[in-house]
Amino acid sequence: MVEITLIDGAAHGANVWGVDLNQPLNAELMKTLADGLYEHRLLVIKNQTLDQPTYLDFGYWWGKPIPHVLDHMRMPGYPELLAVGNTEEKDKKVEIRNGAALWHTDQSYEAVPASATMLYSILTPKRGGQTRLTNMVAAYDALDETTKERIDDLQVAHLYGAGKLLDGEFAANPLATDNQIERVPTCYHPLVLRHPVTGRKALYATGQSSFAIKGMDDAEAVKLLWELKMHAIQDRFVYAHTYEIGDIAIFDTFSTMHAATPIEAANPSAEDTQRLLWRISVRGLPRVYQHLAA
Ligand SMILES: [Fe+2]
Repeated sequence: MVEITLIDGAAHGANVWGVDLNQPLNAELMKTLADGLYEHRLLVIKNQTLDQPTYLDFGYWWGKPIPHVLDHMRMPGYPELLAVGNTEEKDKKVEIRNGAALWHTDQSYEAVPASATMLYSILTPKRGGQTRLTNMVAAYDALDETTKERIDDLQVAHLYGAGKLLDGEFAANPLATDNQIERVPTCYHPLVLRHPVTGRKALYATGQSSFAIKGMDDAEAVKLLWELKMHAIQDRFVYAHTYEIGDIAIFDTFSTMHAATPIEAANPSAEDTQRLLWRISVRGLPRVYQHLAA
């Protein structure tokens, strides 16, 4: 019996109990999960024990998994999976292990951005490595009417790593090759996104990649994007998820923005310093909602 319960004391998000994703999946279960996701923006499916192919099959129910532009970060044998962590040699560098410790929206720097991201917790550290998630629907709703009118039809320019950072934020995990740079030229997305399933408006991607606004003076645009970012990341809109092993955290990237909390490099002899998440991001709508696709 599937049970979806609000996360205690959290600004948003829900836990999902009673699901074993090793069992065959069906449309009824996936409709329950998709509706839960759109209601709560974050679902944490508890107590999973999946191998990579089974996890990837689950990912395909949500849309088309995206091989990440950072191709050197992809999991060998599974290009649609990223191993996010602090245990591998390549992850010891601070700019890589903390390359998501800034407010961002997955693939907002691509012409077709992610619609959902899932992170499956394999190893969990005692300190750091949480996922903070802000509710961009509530952030939009809380704006005054004059601001809403001002921003409703604006188009924002996005480029990987071009957004303005707070003091405590780390730069995005750097692009490593000319080919990677060429693959993600500047693109545009609405500043206020109407959700393709719920129809709800949300602020969209005012973090990592947003740097200019079509038809607006650059200084004015940077100021506006910064103000909206600071507005959106207020504590009242944010839930910080501390992982337990076996959690699959899945979030709606059209109505949230997220940031990892920074983490130290793992100590190989201390398991509670090690972080490992398997990430899948997808484009498009869940299979159970594809009839709504344009
Ligand atoms: Fe991310």
